[in-house]
Amino acid sequence: MKLDPRPRAAGDERLSIAPMADVDVREVMRIEQQSFTTTWPANAFYQELHDNKLAHYYVGRVDDRIIAYGGIWVILEDSHITTIAVDPSHRGRRYGEVMLIRLLDEAIARGASWMTLEVRESNDVAQALYRKYGFTTVSTRRGYYSDNNENALVMWAGNLKSGIYENRLRALRSTLIE
Ligand SMILES: CC(C)(COP(=O)(O)OP(=O)(O)OC[C@H]1O[C@@H](n2cnc3c(N)ncnc32)[C@H](O)[C@@H]1OP(=O)(O)O)[C@@H](O)C(=O)NCCC(=O)NCCS
Repeated sequence: MKLDPRPRAAGDERLSIAPMADVDVREVMRIEQQSFTTTWPANAFYQELHDNKLAHYYVGRVDDRIIAYGGIWVILEDSHITTIAVDPSHRGRRYGEVMLIRLLDEAIARGASWMTLEVRESNDVAQALYRKYGFTTVSTRRGYYSDNNENALVMWAGNLKSGIYENRLRALRSTLIE
């Protein structure tokens, strides 16, 4: 599947999204280390790819180079974003948004009605992205992040299979596809 990000700068390219494979993990780890203060080890990705039947991970490429990735778990009607990141050199060009849409599409196609995630209280950028896609904060997990004892906001988006959400997604998607 290919979606065109709405260009914000000359030279922006399409994000080509495919399921994550073992050979991608090295490049994913490069972005992981630049994106999170507490990083997953490579083994966590391999385990997700091989041992977790509920897990679905994707990479996004521009010019054959991985610049984004994301993952979800889908458990019946519930889905959970486990990770999403864009290479710092490619942020602010709608690639995160395109990856989030891919995760939502996958969850909905697999029957999910709800999606949840945890996000650092200080992560205004990610929270703004999630709010744009209908996520709201439902609770706070105090001291959830052990590196600095930061709180996590738990955000949810619901009724993903409803006509209202379908329309919202269609409208947002139309700003990305030419
Ligand atoms: C969060 C992240 C994936 C967003 O990806 P991105 O490609 O930079 O974001 P996009 O260009 O797709 O922007 C989409 C929306 O995100 C929000 N956003 C993006 N950059 C922003 C900024 N600098 N300030 C405020 N909001 C911003 C906006 O809502 C934006 O929509 P808008 O332009 O219509 O307002 C990226 O910043 C990232 O990898 N961060 C580090 C990892 C991380 O925090 N992951 C989330 C963990 S919960």
